[in-house]
Amino acid sequence: MKLEEKVKKSIEKYKMLNKDEKILVSVSGGKDSHTAAWILKKLDYNIELFHINLGISKFSEISLKKVKELAEILNVPLNIVNLKDITGKTIEDLRKKHCSICGITKRYLMNRFGYENGFDVIVTGHNLDDEVSFLLNNLLNWSIRYLPKHLPVLPSHDKFLKKVKIFYEIEEEEILEYAEKEGIPFTTAKCKFQKDAITVEHRKYLNKLKEYNKNIKKQFLYGYLKYRHIFELEEDFQFKECKICGMTSAGNICSFCRVWKIKEFKW
Ligand code: AMP
Ligand code: FES
Ligand code: ZN
Repeated sequence: MKLEEKVKKSIEKYKMLNKDEKILVSVSGGKDSHTAAWILKKLDYNIELFHINLGISKFSEISLKKVKELAEILNVPLNIVNLKDITGKTIEDLRKKHCSICGITKRYLMNRFGYENGFDVIVTGHNLDDEVSFLLNNLLNWSIRYLPKHLPVLPSHDKFLKKVKIFYEIEEEEILEYAEKEGIPFTTAKCKFQKDAITVEHRKYLNKLKEYNKNIKKQFLYGYLKYRHIFELEEDFQFKECKICGMTSAGNICSFCRVWKIKEFKW
């Protein structure tokens, strides 16, 4: 089956998207998010692109170039924001925890931008390999709070927009093959901080296991979906409003505000 057909099936199966929704596709410059935008456009969804310039030398420059190329070919609006304009700093200026702070920052900015600009949903390029490596990581750490959350669709909640992973059931290698065949612009440049992330090792390990059992990743993912309820916490978790920025937050102050300590937020 062609990748577009598979994505169409996932969209129907998990009720991911509607044609009347305003969709913000968060694009990084890499193959996954670019292919997500490409396929959604082909399937005639109402999309705009969103990109954060993280200010990581060489990597961010080439990423931005590829994002612009994509927007031009697809002929869709491209929204670019600059981390340095917002926080006064780039990811490179941080002294430690680059990846985790970057993750918090990207999630916050895509959500806030989408929320403030009337989007209904955010689509990211996360694929099956991302999901199983995060899942394995959260199991190894027994991160109980995150274990129920590895879903293809996270529904909206207060100021959290709906988040959708259209490649939840699709392996990375299939996306790469499609992107190359279609001539989608993307960069293979890797962020220099990525080597610190343990999930990169989980990925390698899971790919090694695939040599013994080619279905191992799907087996892990679908088994998880079947038994996920085991991890649902009984307590009725109440989200709050961040005391600084007013966005929906797990604690009194959201992780973005805790990390960046911005006095006055402006895009
Ligand atoms: P990553 O956190 O790099 O694994 O990327 C996960 C997803 O986040 C990608 O598939 C994109 O949808 C989105 N993303 C990553 N980097 C950026 C960026 N600089 N700007 C906008 N979206 C991004
Ligand atoms: Fe965020 Fe590498 S892309 S630290
Ligand atoms: Zn906040």
